[in-house]
Amino acid sequence: MTAPLLEDVHAALATVNDPEIRRPITELGMVRDVEIGPDATVAVTVLLTVSGCPMKDTLTRDVTRAVGRVAGVAGVRVTLDVMSAEQRSQLQTQLRGGQPAKEIPFARPDSLTKVLAIASGKGGVGKSSVTVNLELAMVRAGRKVGILDADVYGHSIPAMLGVADERPTQVEEMIMPVPVQGLSVISIGMLKPRRDQVVAWRGPMLDRALVQMLSDVYWSDLDVLLLDLPPGTGDVAISVGQHLPNSEVVVVTTPQSAASEVAERAGTMASMMNQHVAGVIENMSYLVCPHCGPEHTIDVFGTGGGDTVAATLSARFGYDVPVLGRIPLDPRLRQGGDVGRPIVAEAPDSVAAVALASVADSLMSRGRGLAGLQLGLSPAGR
Ligand SMILES: Nc1ncnc2c1ncn2[C@@H]1O[C@H](COP(=O)(O)OP(=O)(O)OP(=O)(O)O)[C@@H](O)[C@H]1O
Ligand SMILES: [Mg+2]
Ligand SMILES: [Zn+2]
Repeated sequence: MTAPLLEDVHAALATVNDPEIRRPITELGMVRDVEIGPDATVAVTVLLTVSGCPMKDTLTRDVTRAVGRVAGVAGVRVTLDVMSAEQRSQLQTQLRGGQPAKEIPFARPDSLTKVLAIASGKGGVGKSSVTVNLELAMVRAGRKVGILDADVYGHSIPAMLGVADERPTQVEEMIMPVPVQGLSVISIGMLKPRRDQVVAWRGPMLDRALVQMLSDVYWSDLDVLLLDLPPGTGDVAISVGQHLPNSEVVVVTTPQSAASEVAERAGTMASMMNQHVAGVIENMSYLVCPHCGPEHTIDVFGTGGGDTVAATLSARFGYDVPVLGRIPLDPRLRQGGDVGRPIVAEAPDSVAAVALASVADSLMSRGRGLAGLQLGLSPAGR
């Protein structure tokens, strides 16, 4: 048996991504020493960005697995160490790509990330459930996606993904989004100094929190960023409009008869944001009959809400605001959210998951807000 080659080990290490930054650890200066012993075991020292990094185990496992596959390797020993302050600030500069601090990458005219603000006229219509499931559908379609939970009242997104207790890692001034189920998530709830603290997010403080989540968080190059907004109009809508001028709005509604009033409110919100409304999602549209199956559907909350909202918004804005899809009621959708295993991942063939995946598809295929910008600009290495 021939001894493993150092260059093969390096090549293997280059396939390991930092789980939070999503770039090869070799590029990030995280691999310090690589030694091949006389017994063909490989000792690797990996530098964590911060001590107590929650991704320790993942990194150790991924490095062990990658290096273990190299021809001739008899064993792998991973030692974890922590970056010095200087190494961290170097990494921060590198991640910012030389950009000054506090810039919102998604607001740059050449940004290729589609930013969609998920809004609703009132609470409890399933906005957060829809957001999480749309994201997971996009992950399944191979997209790089992130969720920014800006719901100051609820911030329920982390729980729906099973990461309610996780806190983001901070590298100097930079915050790493929490990686979960193939996507990245940051919640306004994660910015509270203490978990149990009640913070009345309002006005300038809310604006600062939003800017922080957009500029201090290292999102990497996302295809899509979804924002879960608080229900109704307000401060967040104004901030989003100011800081993300090319984001679009997706309105979630139920089929109820108060829909037109809800549409009015959502429309006011969109015009406050001065943003394009990409479409309407009608949630809790119907129930698939437990006896007959999909050919018999039952209207639990009435009908027509989605259409009314879409028609009202079309008339108000003077362009076509389509109904993007109708998501049925499904107890699995609620249960999935409760236990952090959303339906799109757990029961991808269910009617609700298929409807959500189709909405995700049409949102992804719409192209970005500025027509034609995407053409010929696909970044290298994707
Ligand atoms: N299609 C559906 N079928 C069954 N249950 C659903 C469906 N959509 C949402 N739910 C359930 O309805 C409740 C409210 O949903 P969710 O929290 O997503 O709404 P929201 O609009 O984000 O609410 P909030 O205004 O509190 O933020 C949750 O318990 C969720 O699991
Ligand atoms: Mg919510
Ligand atoms: Zn039936």
